[in-house]
Amino acid sequence: MLAKVFSCALVGLEGAIVEVEVDISPGLPSFTIVGLPDAAVQEARERVRAAVRNSGFSFPGKRITVNLAPADLKKAGPSYDLAIAMAILLGTGQSQADITDMLLLGELSLDGSLKHTNGILPMVALAKEKNVSRVIVPSVNAAEAALVEGVDIIPFSTLRMMSNSLSSGQALECFTYTEKENGNYCPPENAVDMAHIKGQEHIKRALEVAAAGAHNLVMAGPPGSGKTLLARALPSIMPPMTRNEALETTKIYSISGLLPKETPLMLTRPFRAPHYTISNAGLVGGGSWPKPGEISLSHRGVLFLDELPEFGQSRLELLRQPLEDKIVTISRVRGTLSFPSNFMLIGAMNPCPCGFFNDPVKYCSCSPGAISRYQQKLSGPFTDRMDIFVNAPHVNYEKLTSERLGESSSSVQKRVSSARKTQLERFRNHLRVANAEMLPHEIKEFCTTDEAARSLIKEGMKQLHLSARAYHRILKLGRTIADLDGSPIIKAHHVAEAIQYRPRQFS
Ligand SMILES: Nc1ncnc2c1ncn2[C@@H]1O[C@H](COP(=O)(O)OP(=O)(O)OP(=O)(O)O)[C@@H](O)[C@H]1O
Ligand SMILES: [Mg+2]
Repeated sequence: MLAKVFSCALVGLEGAIVEVEVDISPGLPSFTIVGLPDAAVQEARERVRAAVRNSGFSFPGKRITVNLAPADLKKAGPSYDLAIAMAILLGTGQSQADITDMLLLGELSLDGSLKHTNGILPMVALAKEKNVSRVIVPSVNAAEAALVEGVDIIPFSTLRMMSNSLSSGQALECFTYTEKENGNYCPPENAVDMAHIKGQEHIKRALEVAAAGAHNLVMAGPPGSGKTLLARALPSIMPPMTRNEALETTKIYSISGLLPKETPLMLTRPFRAPHYTISNAGLVGGGSWPKPGEISLSHRGVLFLDELPEFGQSRLELLRQPLEDKIVTISRVRGTLSFPSNFMLIGAMNPCPCGFFNDPVKYCSCSPGAISRYQQKLSGPFTDRMDIFVNAPHVNYEKLTSERLGESSSSVQKRVSSARKTQLERFRNHLRVANAEMLPHEIKEFCTTDEAARSLIKEGMKQLHLSARAYHRILKLGRTIADLDGSPIIKAHHVAEAIQYRPRQFS
């Protein structure tokens, strides 16, 4: 007997519909899977055999051949279990269900229950693209799957329940996901509040500008001046994600197996802080089956690189292309995959190995050679991609012990959100969400300056010998600062603030 069921293959974030064909013919008992399966798909044989038996069905003692078509596409992961098991039940006449218009996704446990499966969201998104109207998923993945509108999600928790329900001919119950009432915003629970950080007002302002326009920022200063603390406060002032941004991030976390079961949709922007001993593949993505790296896991969020020079020049150079293109393409023997990597880079560093270069109080014990070698770990082109540079000086005793609380993160976050709303409105017909992403022709269209601002930029370019890239950076930053100010025109004081964030030697 021949039976056919549809499932889905996921290669990175791209997918393809897979036909699971099962042929059961007389002969010596065997169970073969063909169609470029990886080890996890091969192991489906053991899971399916046990799950079919433990669900009260009989497993045929015949020659079983499973073909996953198209045969030239690699199949990875355990999500084909359910489709294979169902095809065997259909092929042996133990189920009479009509499932020709459905996609079956899910990993089986040995007892026949359906387990949480990675990558369900991108698979259901593919189903919608291919006009498949109904998808069967494990109950634990139902909320994640239901994020895709326009597809009926039918959740089941066991193989037995699924087979009974489909064979009975009764109307199937679809799952609908209701999003939280407070819209999209879900503030991070354990982020540091800006109010508890003393002094460093200029850095808090720079972080506000960076968060509002998704600009990259580097801070440098002596040990213990609060750089790491300030970076860790950033998630508390980030603007909420749009639904599309949330879906993009959720897809990446779903295929990486990092999506928490209780969070079907990522509502908080990611904040990733990898240690500087991270491998190249860990940072940009890789592996024999390429997986997203930290730069993709921080898509639409923050990639915080603490002790920036310790990452080493070669590893930082890897970030140059993704910083520019917002997408990373990984080529391996088994294939080439692209992952989105539109992240905001925040770096923290000391100005020299001892950390006290140009400190007004402490003596710097580094030789000039050591200082320049340390600072040269950030190459010119890498530095050129940073929008904001700030120095983090020591906080004095009076400021540190002052009882006065600073402005709270929630009030800064309100300004940031309203500036981001202005940007979303501005870019509604473009594929952008923040000022930092503007291309030169968009800068021309959206960065309207007044006379005084123009003459200030002209003077700045002349006196500071600024490059063409620096000119565009000043306009983009000026646009964000003006948005925070609620001004449709970039004025002289907006430009003045943008100019002072330019990259320079750390002092
Ligand atoms: N401005 C500040 N307000 C309140 N506490 C601070 C401030 N700056 C530093 N601290 C205290 O000092 C500790 C160390 O700060 P932090 O780790 O941010 O320093 P750092 O600048 O990252 O130093 P390093 O260069 O050594 O990494 C913080 O955990 C906090 O207790
Ligand atoms: Mg630190």
